[in-house]
Amino acid sequence: EAIEKGGFEHFMLKEIFEQPTSIADCMRGRLDIAQKSIKLGGIEAYINQLICAPKITIVACGTSWLAGVVGEYVIEEFCRIPIKVEYASEFRYRNPIIKPGDIIIAISQSGETADTLAAIELAQAKGATVLSICNVVGSSIARTTQAGIYTHAGPEIGVASTKAFTAQITVLILLALSLAQQRKTIMQASFEELIDELANLPDKVKTMLQQECKIKGLANLFKDATNFLYLGRGYNYPVALEGALKLKELSYIHAEGYPAAEMKHGPIALIDENMPVVFIATQDRTYEKIISNIQEIKARKGKIIAIVTQGDERVKQLVDYVIEVPATHEALMPIISVIPLQLLAYYIAVEKGCNVDQPRNLAKSVTVE
Ligand code: G6P
Repeated sequence: EAIEKGGFEHFMLKEIFEQPTSIADCMRGRLDIAQKSIKLGGIEAYINQLICAPKITIVACGTSWLAGVVGEYVIEEFCRIPIKVEYASEFRYRNPIIKPGDIIIAISQSGETADTLAAIELAQAKGATVLSICNVVGSSIARTTQAGIYTHAGPEIGVASTKAFTAQITVLILLALSLAQQRKTIMQASFEELIDELANLPDKVKTMLQQECKIKGLANLFKDATNFLYLGRGYNYPVALEGALKLKELSYIHAEGYPAAEMKHGPIALIDENMPVVFIATQDRTYEKIISNIQEIKARKGKIIAIVTQGDERVKQLVDYVIEVPATHEALMPIISVIPLQLLAYYIAVEKGCNVDQPRNLAKSVTVE
């Protein structure tokens, strides 16, 4: 097992550090930088149906569901196709409105999650075309669906999903850009800019990982907290949810993720000097708005850790601690901004002596309801 961990203390840490490679593997053969093109061979037979789709439903569970929310934002933005993201467990029991020819995309790392599989079978029985985004080749979901795109992230052993999540988002971005180009809902210059940014992602993730020591230090400072709030807006909203989920899973600290502006409708009541708040406040279209949200928390004495774009000075002056991430296009930012949150959850759990690779009560793949 020590050999399999490749010198890392846990599988999870190894998998976090594999992300520059797993993201590159996920794009290999699909993203052609010289030709400025994207090719998704697995779903080629369904591409016309996707291009003409009046709507798409995404079904998934857990972290895969959160990748689906990023997918919703990206596909809606670039393709102008309405997307609905559903928890598979809810979808399957609420008599969903599915008509023959509708398109469903199922997302699953393991390809074995019982609720996701049942949601797929239900949609297929109603005549839908179901495509999948899976990591495990030959898994039940990959075999059941009509076609799919593998994430090629390699085996994920740690129960808490890390590299599968960033690979799922990478696939969803490739899909969004490919459809947008063919639907002519994206300008060629923006398309090419995004292709270049995608190609730069593995290096940027590598740069991000160099901040491991700083994050370890923060983990030591915050390990005794009993609650955490994670706030983000826009593309970083699902990242806030994923950050909170990782902390809960690994360290058993109660954590809540929320859209930053929505916190004033409830969670703000929880803020006092004992409440750590993690803001994902990178420079995007919601930057000014999130600065106001930071000020609202500071006025109530919350302790703030902010994930900011490299070189940001404004947020730094308002908060207690910052972690800098390399700049990229806002739609790609979740792939980078989630990394410090994975590391923070990991190191807090290690500090607390938790079983990081196999947290209590959790399973890698939930094959029963
Ligand atoms: C379990 C795992 C999670 C995962 C979820 C969905 O809860 O612990 O890490 O996100 O199942 O699994 P899937 O394999 O369908 O992505």
